Amino acid sequence: MATEKWVFMVTAKTPTNIAVIKYWGKRDEVRILPVNDSISVTLDPDHLCTVTTVAVSPAFDRDRMWLNGKEISLSGSRYQNCLREIRSRAGDVEDKEKGIKIGKKDWEKLHLHIASHNNFPTAAGLASSAAGFACLVFSLAKLMNVDEDPSHLSAIARQGSGSACRSLFGGFVKWTMGSKEDGSDSVAVQLADEKHWDDLVIIIAVVSSRQKETSSTSGMRESVETSLLLQHRAKEVVPKRILQMEEAIKNRDFASFTQLTCTDSNQFHAVCVDTSPPIFYMNDTSHRIISLVEKWNRSEGTPQVAYTFDAGPNAVLIARNRKVAVQLLQGLLYYFPPKSDTDMKSYVAGDNSILKEAGLDGASGVENLQPPPEIKDNIGSQDQKGEVSYFICTRPGKGPIVLHDQTQALLNPETGLPK
Ligand code: DP6
Repeated sequence: MATEKWVFMVTAKTPTNIAVIKYWGKRDEVRILPVNDSISVTLDPDHLCTVTTVAVSPAFDRDRMWLNGKEISLSGSRYQNCLREIRSRAGDVEDKEKGIKIGKKDWEKLHLHIASHNNFPTAAGLASSAAGFACLVFSLAKLMNVDEDPSHLSAIARQGSGSACRSLFGGFVKWTMGSKEDGSDSVAVQLADEKHWDDLVIIIAVVSSRQKETSSTSGMRESVETSLLLQHRAKEVVPKRILQMEEAIKNRDFASFTQLTCTDSNQFHAVCVDTSPPIFYMNDTSHRIISLVEKWNRSEGTPQVAYTFDAGPNAVLIARNRKVAVQLLQGLLYYFPPKSDTDMKSYVAGDNSILKEAGLDGASGVENLQPPPEIKDNIGSQDQKGEVSYFICTRPGKGPIVLHDQTQALLNPETGLPK
């Protein structure tokens, strides 16, 4: 086999996800076992995703990885744990057309090339590790003919990054914390697929930030060590909230969904402030967005928009339907207009067909927007120019898929090196 020159590869695309009941805190740092269950919504991979190509060849002399075109080290324990776990489950692979035959045992000796690309800027602070590790594990499982269902694969992706386990499924996903020491029951399960509640529209405000943020990994470690609120949250609050959220999703009960999502996001950030030293992920812009949504929801009498924030200032806003999303976008653009030289289609990325519905596809749209009627304070719209870098309009989406079109592969099929 060693003299052969073939390259065998698989390309896959995997979504990112946003937690509506947050994971914050580990009981086991190595296996990445959480202190509570969490629930997320998978975001449409057409708008936010990671694409990964994994290749194997007898010509490769070591495992190598390129992330967004730059070679990175695979020596970290998280990568090593995922590679070890997936290799140990590898099966026999045969491609008769190419004359390739790889036996179960061969995988221990063969080396891999991995190229991964996020279709959104890593610097935007959107959860790239979730989609990244999910895509790594999913594509390797396909390459190595690993005969495991997505829940089993989620337990491997979890060891790369906790939130990654939830990206193995589309729609609405629960990560069950489990109780076993080896973590084998700490897996993700799908609660409902993306079609179950397809009225929802998600608008992400990528908030400009100058401050260097504390990573989720170290932030949650500090919270576990110092926050009493975290212990109360994990023991008393989240277990009930998880049941309520499952009900809300099952019944498409937007009022409960919003109440639970917003309260949980706020409690997660309260835990961060309760950490010593305190961690501040949200900034003034984040707080302004919360206040706009809260005022609007209150004035309507029933919730129209849910908000949630991860370990950074970006707002993820979930509108109950398209009509509400159009109004929401108009309000957001009134308060956070683009800088004058910004093209609207790059200021509202993702599904930007919403611009037309909002009457904002022409050049003069934003200046003519009126302040939302329920907002009685006098913050002039110009004040907030530049506070939001851009928006992404998306929706709940599907889980990982294999891309069969070779033109989408990130590695050259002859050399196994980045294209
Ligand atoms: C705030 O999954 O990034 O986004 O497991 O250490 O890699 P590690 O952390 P990570 O934490 C995500 C935290 C969160 C909430 C969530 O996604 O549930």
